[in-house]
Amino acid sequence: MLVWWTRHAPGAPDEAPALARRAVAHVRGVDPADVVVGRRCPTCGSTAHGAPMTTGAHVSITRGTGVVAVAVSAVGPVGIDLEQRRDELWPGFDDLALAPGEHVATTDERLRAWVRKEAVLKASGLGLTVDPRSVVLRDGQVVDAPHGIGGCELHDVDPPGHLGAVAVPVGAVVAVREVTP
Ligand SMILES: CC(C)(COP(=O)(O)OP(=O)(O)OC[C@H]1O[C@@H](n2cnc3c(N)ncnc32)[C@H](O)[C@@H]1OP(=O)(O)O)[C@@H](O)C(=O)NCCC(=O)NCCS
Repeated sequence: MLVWWTRHAPGAPDEAPALARRAVAHVRGVDPADVVVGRRCPTCGSTAHGAPMTTGAHVSITRGTGVVAVAVSAVGPVGIDLEQRRDELWPGFDDLALAPGEHVATTDERLRAWVRKEAVLKASGLGLTVDPRSVVLRDGQVVDAPHGIGGCELHDVDPPGHLGAVAVPVGAVVAVREVTP
């Protein structure tokens, strides 16, 4: 499976749709022009928002600050999330994001926990309709989660200035690459 990320200038057109099509096409061995990446919301059924869907592969999309990343697998569901590194987070982050017993000491550790949980929830297709506190991490992997979520492995993906994570099928080989727009 692959993770492709690319830089984009502030105010430039959104690179995510084209990057997702290119990455899916690469995995499937087809022309990007033949790839359609749609959406489906698990809550309301809308095809205007929600988890990205395509034929012949699983795909996930995230946007950072000046960075876009996609994960694509032919094997099983994937989820990717990026957060820009920063000096501090909002007060109350731990209460909203962490399960009892999850201990973090620094802002980077908090962001890392967040992107890991969001990657897992994106791989499930449910996103933040599921309480991130219900996804329990230990040593960088999921040890407990509701609704059968969490049968995946987590890997770090850190484009410049960001902390990120990708949730992939267990045993999948992850190839991370910067690509040009
Ligand atoms: C989207 C969400 C996963 C977090 O996104 P974020 O960190 O702000 O932004 P990111 O850039 O990392 O990710 C955005 C991408 O996540 C993907 N995404 C959206 N919902 C998703 C879901 N349920 N599962 C997996 N991926 C999802 C989309 O590809 C979206 O990109 P798009 O705007 O091009 O469609 C989170 O806000 C969420 O789950 N929202 C949906 C809540 C919901 O379903 N409400 C009910 C509506 S009826």
